[in-house]
Amino acid sequence: MFESLRFPVIAAPMAGGPSTPELVAAVTGAGGFGFLGAGMLSPRVLAEKIAKTRELTDEPFGVNLFVPGKPSDADLSGHQERMAAEASRYEVEPGTPTWDDDSYPAKVDVVVEQRVPVVSFTFGLPRPEDVRRLHEIGSKVIVTVTKPEEALEAEKAGADALAVQGFEAGGHRGIFKDDPDSPTGGEIYGVLAALRLIKGVTELPLIAAGGLVHGADVAAVLAAGAVAAQLGTAFLRADEAGTQPTQVKALAVADRKTDITRAFSGRPARGLVNRVMTELSAQAPSAYPELNNLSKPIRAAAAKADDPEAMSLWAGQTYSAATDGPAAEIVARLRDEARAAVDRAAKLI
Ligand SMILES: Cc1cc2nc3c(=O)[nH]c(=O)nc-3n(C[C@H](O)[C@H](O)[C@H](O)COP(=O)(O)O)c2cc1C
Repeated sequence: MFESLRFPVIAAPMAGGPSTPELVAAVTGAGGFGFLGAGMLSPRVLAEKIAKTRELTDEPFGVNLFVPGKPSDADLSGHQERMAAEASRYEVEPGTPTWDDDSYPAKVDVVVEQRVPVVSFTFGLPRPEDVRRLHEIGSKVIVTVTKPEEALEAEKAGADALAVQGFEAGGHRGIFKDDPDSPTGGEIYGVLAALRLIKGVTELPLIAAGGLVHGADVAAVLAAGAVAAQLGTAFLRADEAGTQPTQVKALAVADRKTDITRAFSGRPARGLVNRVMTELSAQAPSAYPELNNLSKPIRAAAAKADDPEAMSLWAGQTYSAATDGPAAEIVARLRDEARAAVDRAAKLI
């Protein structure tokens, strides 16, 4: 699937703005591969972004979809109260904590109609008919997994490759089931441990993700058997990324820790620690997308006020080592660093 790449680096799907057609085209043009993040987009806007990507590049690209879960039966009232206090700081009303399916079936129709060459799924397994329809048109199916059990399920569901996400990763964890009693949603593995364990249960091609920001990191996961490295945070400050400006500023200052929280969306996700994460993470229930809908107006108002303290600043653990600049330069730097790292390691072995 990625054999034709000049350099097996993938710009990870990043919903909520960062993944733009321009970023996909720039990374592809530099010899890598890019994904559009379709999560939280309407089917119409997704179709527009696919069309725009095709205007900018003739190369294949991918689209990523959020697989919907089930409505939460958790008691949300405490979190609603705490979020109401946050909302009042910005003089907005909190959103309504409703469940929705993110228009998943309609977006599957879009990627099938548009014959998107690679479609990846996170938060769960695609339906059997989704896999069948995509395979019928020659598209490849990728499923994000975080542990061997999920890898086995994804293989059974017909995945052509797996995106193996380590706990270092920025953004939402791709876990199929969120254990509400665990702050991270269940047992978590670093990317090298996840690769090792998942290689033990499947021969599917593995794409490694989580904390990879330097060429040496890319070389490390390729040496560990991945077919490609998928980087999100490394591209968040790229010129072509659509990352919210307040988040770009926060990422440029290496003085925050990252942590995993349910406070913004109800689903474990890694981001820069801010006030909402510090104050609301401990009691945040497992309820995605209910809490995401609840916090939406607050996050938007904080962004408008240029205040990072109530925004979801999704980023991986190594964010401080990521750089700004044109995406093509970031890819070229990664390639040079990867080659140097391999030479260095070869001398030691
Ligand atoms: C801002 C942001 C948004 C993300 N959105 C998505 C998404 O829409 N779909 C998805 O599968 N993964 C998403 N991820 C996770 C990435 O696919 C990937 O696992 C992660 O970026 C890898 O870790 P890194 O950020 O340290 O490179 C997102 C990550 C970030 C940082």
